[in-house]
Amino acid sequence: MADADRARWDARHAAVGAGSPQPPDALRGRLELLPPGGRVLELACGRGAVAVWLALRGFAVDAVDVSGAGLAAGAALAERSGVGERVRWVAADLDAGIPPSCAGPYDVVVCQRFRDTGLYPAMAERLAPGGLLVVSVLSEVGDTGGPYRAPAGELAAAFADLEVLAHAERDGEAALVARRT
Ligand SMILES: C[S@@+](CC[C@H](N)C(=O)[O-])C[C@H]1O[C@@H](n2cnc3c(N)ncnc32)[C@H](O)[C@@H]1O
Repeated sequence: MADADRARWDARHAAVGAGSPQPPDALRGRLELLPPGGRVLELACGRGAVAVWLALRGFAVDAVDVSGAGLAAGAALAERSGVGERVRWVAADLDAGIPPSCAGPYDVVVCQRFRDTGLYPAMAERLAPGGLLVVSVLSEVGDTGGPYRAPAGELAAAFADLEVLAHAERDGEAALVARRT
């Protein structure tokens, strides 16, 4: 990622006030799919709302983002929430792939509102047997299209080797929840 893009993300994260822990969007209404505990990898974690929510549920979370401002906000939220020791904040540019320090295996892999099709195989590979993948991206379905949006069927095709538990494409968003068998 170019320095200017990283600076833009830093500015965006710094400009937004403190967040609160939140479940992954794709799991709302289906939290029973989460395993009872274990290790989580979250890619492009932003200000850490999902990472901290998962830590509050008892998971040990590796949360990756390129933005130092986002990670700092996440670390502050984790401390305030009493789970500072359960999240490892990893500064890394995912353009270079998932960092070697996040080799897994993971019981849950989450990636929300960040799309890099080149990472899809590595995300599936990081899953432990029985592990849960939770992905959401901007979609062309229900929108006018654009460079960052997934064409119809992208997630289902990319993760065809997993057992699909939920899949939706509408209103400009696509989400997939799937399990490694
Ligand atoms: C739209 S935000 C989504 C944040 C979070 N997942 C959420 O749902 O709120 C996209 C995130 O991706 C991060 N990001 C963008 N490009 C990245 C890259 N190449 N490597 C790592 N993180 C990146 C940004 O810093 C930002 O936090």
